Amino acid sequence: MDLQSLRTLAREAASQIDSVNSAESLETFRVNYLGRKGKITQLFEELKNLSAEERRTIGRELNEIKVTLEKRVEEKQASFSSLKHSKEESFDPTLPGLKRTHGRIHPLVQTIREITGIFERLGFETVEGPEVETEFHNFTALNIPADHPSRDSFATFYTQADNRESPLLLRSQTSTVQIRVMQKRKPPLRIVAPGRVYRPDPVDASHSFMFHQIEGLMVDDRTTFSELKGVLQFFLRKLFGPDTKIRFRPHFFPFTEPSAEVDVHCFLCQSKGCSVCGGKGWLEVLGAGSVDPAVFEQVGYDPKRVQGFAFGLGVERIAMLRHRIPDIRMFFENDLRFLKQF
Ligand code: PHE
Repeated sequence: MDLQSLRTLAREAASQIDSVNSAESLETFRVNYLGRKGKITQLFEELKNLSAEERRTIGRELNEIKVTLEKRVEEKQASFSSLKHSKEESFDPTLPGLKRTHGRIHPLVQTIREITGIFERLGFETVEGPEVETEFHNFTALNIPADHPSRDSFATFYTQADNRESPLLLRSQTSTVQIRVMQKRKPPLRIVAPGRVYRPDPVDASHSFMFHQIEGLMVDDRTTFSELKGVLQFFLRKLFGPDTKIRFRPHFFPFTEPSAEVDVHCFLCQSKGCSVCGGKGWLEVLGAGSVDPAVFEQVGYDPKRVQGFAFGLGVERIAMLRHRIPDIRMFFENDLRFLKQF
């Protein structure tokens, strides 16, 4: 025992007692240092073995440490018991209780539920698929050729290709779920699949690197394009109102043939032309078409024996149109002043 080690012990004890935050840990501290078998008490025993000279200097120092620690322990004890008291005394049973605020459902989730609800009435089951996907599910099985620009790394987020022949990616469309469901089940099928998709687009008022889509797929021994039109017309009129006018424009998607983009008339300007419809009088809301036989082959269905149609829509776009939301970023900023309005 020397002055050096004594001071180290004192510093250690001081920092320990500073972080003590309960009556229980204070008692543990007290027993460890000042109790009958505590560190300080033991050192007093050891004084016997020192020379008279050392005993005086070290003894004095040891005593000072003991007194200081005892004082700190008392102070702490006092603060814990007064804390307990003030808590008990400040309870006033006549004060009004705390008000709990209700959470609410995010406008995008509301929109998804509303849309899948309409399709559920037509016998479509709501299913979900993974957001991290294979190239096969996001591209190859959907008849998207190897050199298609949507496969580029500036159009799709790829993850690291650790130990894999082909990399994983963040799905860029919910059409992946068509493939997953067909691989698992036999027709007839009627599904809708809501979920997040990712594209490395620069963020602006109408683009985000992450947004939501809802995919639809029906497969049976026979389906027709007019059934597709009927289903989408039913859906769009339930969503936008019974007088909604609908237009199918020829388009191309690798996984449907024939394909169309579907517009509704601009209900914001009554088709007179405004900034939202870009003066066109129509609002594009869906992509759709008859399932391409090449897709059926990829999932092991016989294209001669089954037919189907598929469609996909952007949830943010629908919600923005219906609620007149001017900027897609508002959905993701978590500003309660915005979210409370829905
Ligand atoms: N996957 C297409 C897209 O993201 C939408 C779509 C789905 C088109 C199904 C046709 C059929 O643009």
